[in-house]
Amino acid sequence: MEIRLDKYLADMGIGSRNQVKQYIRKKQILVNGNRPTGPEQKITPDTDTVSFQGQDIGYTRYEYYLFYKPGGCVSAVTDRIHKTVLDYFPKNRRKGLFPVGRLDLDTEGLLLITNDGTLAHNLLAPGKHVPKTYYAEVSGHVTEDDVEQFSQGLDIGEARLTRPAELNLLPENHPEISRITLTITEGKFHQVKRMFEAVGKKVLYLKRISMGSLELDDSLLPGEYRLLTPEELQTITEHTGPSRKG
Ligand code: URA
Repeated sequence: MEIRLDKYLADMGIGSRNQVKQYIRKKQILVNGNRPTGPEQKITPDTDTVSFQGQDIGYTRYEYYLFYKPGGCVSAVTDRIHKTVLDYFPKNRRKGLFPVGRLDLDTEGLLLITNDGTLAHNLLAPGKHVPKTYYAEVSGHVTEDDVEQFSQGLDIGEARLTRPAELNLLPENHPEISRITLTITEGKFHQVKRMFEAVGKKVLYLKRISMGSLELDDSLLPGEYRLLTPEELQTITEHTGPSRKG
């Protein structure tokens, strides 16, 4: 597929259409090692090598970022009041990106940000039951009886009980606050908070630590993101069905 050089560069996030025209004029863009004839020159991304300031640019149609959502931002593309997750990305990288699913305003943790609607659909489709694991701090004493109830399914006011969920009690280091991890395979609105409410407890802090095969690792601080590794992308697409790549 042929594409205009200036469009290609803008799609790649190198700059606006006007900025990339200037880069071309200033000889900062080369196509296969040669100066292009102009911004309108047609290139074939699969076979031509384009460089910007000496660095090769790869044409990736789909982008996949692991984002560590901080508290206080909404899992949306635009919002009138709060910061959105996309505000943490540079303006020239945001085009077409969206968060896969939602975390509450005050929830932190792993959020996949992509422009691949097929992968997003596969990860969120209710029938896929993609596991999501959360770390939480909960008021009061979470007991073995709660573990049993979570595994049996809880009434959170929906038509059906929640699907069996795996609740793990972590060592306590505070008399009135329990630390737990919880793995659920569905994504009802405020699900974790409502599950604890159903057993008379309140979630004080919530952080998602994994989604499917993706895990939040120590490389990111709240508000930071990184590209998925090729292995992470392959594993997540294998687990959720076909997706479009590169
Ligand atoms: N469950 C919740 O209650 N909130 C979240 O943000 C995610 C899961």
